[in-house]
Amino acid sequence: MDPPEDNAIDPPYGVGDSSYQAAGGVEGIRRLVDSFYDSMESLDEALRIRKMHPSDLSTARDKLTHFLSGWMNGPNIYRSKYGEINVPRAHAHLPIGLEERDAWLLCMRRALAEQPYPESFKQYLLRELSVPAERCRTR
Ligand code: HEM
Repeated sequence: MDPPEDNAIDPPYGVGDSSYQAAGGVEGIRRLVDSFYDSMESLDEALRIRKMHPSDLSTARDKLTHFLSGWMNGPNIYRSKYGEINVPRAHAHLPIGLEERDAWLLCMRRALAEQPYPESFKQYLLRELSVPAERCRTR
């Protein structure tokens, strides 16, 4: 029998907590978010969005990690720690246009490239994250 395709997971990503499991649970998500903010600190394209954040990124790292855990149908740690969130509303005070959205997604693409995830999961996550990223645009 042929080996299973990289994307032939059962159940598919997005069903139940399969994405959360594929990401390596909260510790895997924390590594992804750490890479994400490391990219934001190093990429010229991300300079403007980096400056929108406080100089100390530790709360931002904690919030995004715990948000993504719930977003992938894992434990909703963000809600327990920080309360309810509406992602576009949480960004309404920020000047986010096409370039800022794309810079955010570029940081995420770089971060995904550094993770030990199947290629199909990296592509899936980037595609899924582009939806809320577009919704965060304020101009
Ligand atoms: C589109 C480009 C984006 C930019 C430029 C951006 C930028 C920011 C900034 C600057 C903050 C800190 C806000 C502050 O301290 O006042 C923040 C917070 C946050 N962002 Fe984003 N973001 C983007 C997209 C996203 C997406 C797509 C998600 C989720 C999938 C997300 C999730 C969060 C969360 C959970 C917080 C914490 C909110 C809070 O508790 O205050 N962001 N973002």
